[in-house]
Amino acid sequence: MTTVDPVSRTVDPAPPPPMRLRELVFGAACAAAVRAAVRLGVADALGDTPMTAEDLATAVQAQPRTLLRLLRALSCQGVFTENPDGTFAHTEMSRLLREDDPRSLRYIALWCTEPWTWDVWPKLDEAVRSGDNVFENVFGREFFPYLNEEAPESAYVFNRAMTTSSRQSAQDVADLLDLREASSVADIGGGQGHVLASLLERHPDLRGTLLDLPGVVENADPRLRDGGGLSSRVRVVAGDCREDIPVEADVYIIKNILEWDDDSTRRALANVRRAARPGARVVVIENLVDDTPSMRFTTAMDLLLLLNVGGAKHTRQSMVDRLTDAGLVIGEIRPVNAYLHAFECTVPA
Ligand SMILES: C[S@@+](CC[C@H](N)C(=O)[O-])C[C@H]1O[C@@H](n2cnc3c(N)ncnc32)[C@H](O)[C@@H]1O
Repeated sequence: MTTVDPVSRTVDPAPPPPMRLRELVFGAACAAAVRAAVRLGVADALGDTPMTAEDLATAVQAQPRTLLRLLRALSCQGVFTENPDGTFAHTEMSRLLREDDPRSLRYIALWCTEPWTWDVWPKLDEAVRSGDNVFENVFGREFFPYLNEEAPESAYVFNRAMTTSSRQSAQDVADLLDLREASSVADIGGGQGHVLASLLERHPDLRGTLLDLPGVVENADPRLRDGGGLSSRVRVVAGDCREDIPVEADVYIIKNILEWDDDSTRRALANVRRAARPGARVVVIENLVDDTPSMRFTTAMDLLLLLNVGGAKHTRQSMVDRLTDAGLVIGEIRPVNAYLHAFECTVPA
């Protein structure tokens, strides 16, 4: 059995600045370790009974000594825990890496650490200097076309990650939106349609449209596809919302879309205005970088958006400015949950 020096497992929750800075600059090691654990299936292999690194290594087909090193690196971050007898057990965080956990963040963990991210992070200084994305220089084309046409595994991970976050926020969005007066709703850039499906399930007389890129809607939520329980009330539109939004609805939802470059935001909002009749509601839902309990996550995502699409997470004011410039009338701005805010807008006469 592995013996563990108890001192070596001590982690100072508030280390002195020189130690904290050393830890910070090794952030890539943390991200890589989480990714490796997901790809090896370590969290899935570990059940409720603690296991030795040796037994886990057999289960995930890895070398015991190197798996032990990975587990130690993760345990001192609170992902798994090492018992005094040298076995490892789940923590609340490590359980979230299991595929079958109802609150699983497995695909979010993979998405945030996909291979392309490791190619663009070293160019952050370049992006900060120029104010532009670096993705197109590195990969030779725009991010989403690259993802959908050249990186099918990453596209799959992205869509699963979006579905994870939509699933987790769909109920909050459904709780927040009063759709009693609406007979139709359109989710623009609605991904695989999880938010839309939740709204249609909540409101049996509501009709809905899902618009997203072709490669995304072809894998729409089964409830929305032909033969699915909601399909008779759904239209699925494959398209680019910067080119056209051929959808008339009482309520347009635009969630986590307007975080790309300003020109795309301007074009998408102009298309919503063109499609919507006066009085229609436009509900924009975003994470805000200046008003959230999840500052570390949201600011990190803000930088990744700069690198891949030349975009940004918004401040409350920058969102208000974009919506006002698009000619929308802004009503209430309300938190949806700990991560998201909803901007209720109307299309003027
Ligand atoms: C961050 S995800 C948000 C998905 C969904 N609204 C949600 O909140 O879960 C961004 C979505 O925008 C879609 N998208 C990107 N470019 C688009 C475009 N030009 N037209 C329509 N959808 C687009 C992506 O395919 C993706 O589903």
